[in-house]
Amino acid sequence: MSSQNVISIESAVKRFGDVIALDRVSIEIRENEFFALLGPSGCGKTTLLRAIAGFGVLDSGRILLDGKDLGHSKPYDRPVNMMFQSYALFPHMRVRDNIAYGLKADHLPKNEIEARVDEVLGIADMHALADRRPHELSGGQRQRVALARAIIKRPRVLLLDEPLAALDRKLRQEMQIELKRMQHEIGLTFVVVTHDQEEAMTMADRIAVMRNGRVLQIAPPQELYRRPADRFVASFIGTMNLLEGTTVAGGVTIPGHETVPIDTGGAGLGSPLALGIRPGDVRLLTEGEEIDEASIVLAGIVETTAFIGSQSHTLVRVHETAVAITVTASASTVLVEDGSPCRVALPYTALLALPDPPE
Ligand SMILES: Nc1ncnc2c1ncn2[C@@H]1O[C@H](COP(=O)(O)OP(=O)(O)O)[C@@H](O)[C@H]1O
Ligand SMILES: [Mg+2]
Repeated sequence: MSSQNVISIESAVKRFGDVIALDRVSIEIRENEFFALLGPSGCGKTTLLRAIAGFGVLDSGRILLDGKDLGHSKPYDRPVNMMFQSYALFPHMRVRDNIAYGLKADHLPKNEIEARVDEVLGIADMHALADRRPHELSGGQRQRVALARAIIKRPRVLLLDEPLAALDRKLRQEMQIELKRMQHEIGLTFVVVTHDQEEAMTMADRIAVMRNGRVLQIAPPQELYRRPADRFVASFIGTMNLLEGTTVAGGVTIPGHETVPIDTGGAGLGSPLALGIRPGDVRLLTEGEEIDEASIVLAGIVETTAFIGSQSHTLVRVHETAVAITVTASASTVLVEDGSPCRVALPYTALLALPDPPE
């Protein structure tokens, strides 16, 4: 993959009255990248996408495309295309005419229009449906038409705001794979907004996690999971067990335990810092079992166990620290009955130091 930047967002700020929708957002998006903006509702994703498209002016900061400041240029003067949540297909037009519309408006030669419609019908796997009208299509098929229409003009960047939100779960999962395939096939830079972490993890090469108008972390999916920057990212991306601690010289203390030697990332002494561990890294100890690895060992009570296919999730209530720990183990592991006392081991090497996110 080329590492050349197509879009550079430099310290973008946007306010709506008292609300800071974008708070000094800086992001570089690379050529042919599938980039996701991920975060809870209201964190500023759509505002940022609209700013790239040219809808709405920033209060400060700038957005460059191929190194050129987009300034206040109008949406139709930008080599980007935004696909909105409502697909807005023309109901009376056949699929092929819906797709050709933008090229016809640009007065391209008829044979070129036909060739390009043919090409994107292939990419979107819609040849058989080319003569149908939108009401004769399923939700997923309409979504493909909208996508075909958005890519046919060969924008430098395609912006998609929650493109799969209207689809049911199964179709959404199929379309995530499809969207990724199409992006790969046409070799286009995609910027996709979603509030669904699984969706972002499935599709994106890199993800920017946003909260309260700020970017908390930009990283590939695996890195977000393995090395989350703070406790918000840690809990937003998958499940994370958290123990509340305090930084001391040489590591972190949690009530009732020796100092856990861990890199606190420059947090000042006495600052609150959570220790995080993924459920798959927690060990449920059998009675009398000792553990060789340096670990935090906590006594608790098994609350419930749920079987999820090949795995089981056990929730353990730990009294001393008043937390619940989820343990993920293969379903064949000997299980402890609900209500029985148990011990869990949290190996030091699997612990992550997680500061609070910036306000
Ligand atoms: N046109 C607007 N007028 C006033 N407030 C707005 C406007 N657009 C967005 N906001 C506010 O800015 C914040 C970010 O909104 P938005 O970018 O739509 O979030 P997201 O897409 O992440 O859900 C929210 O608090 C929202 O209410
Ligand atoms: Mg939005």
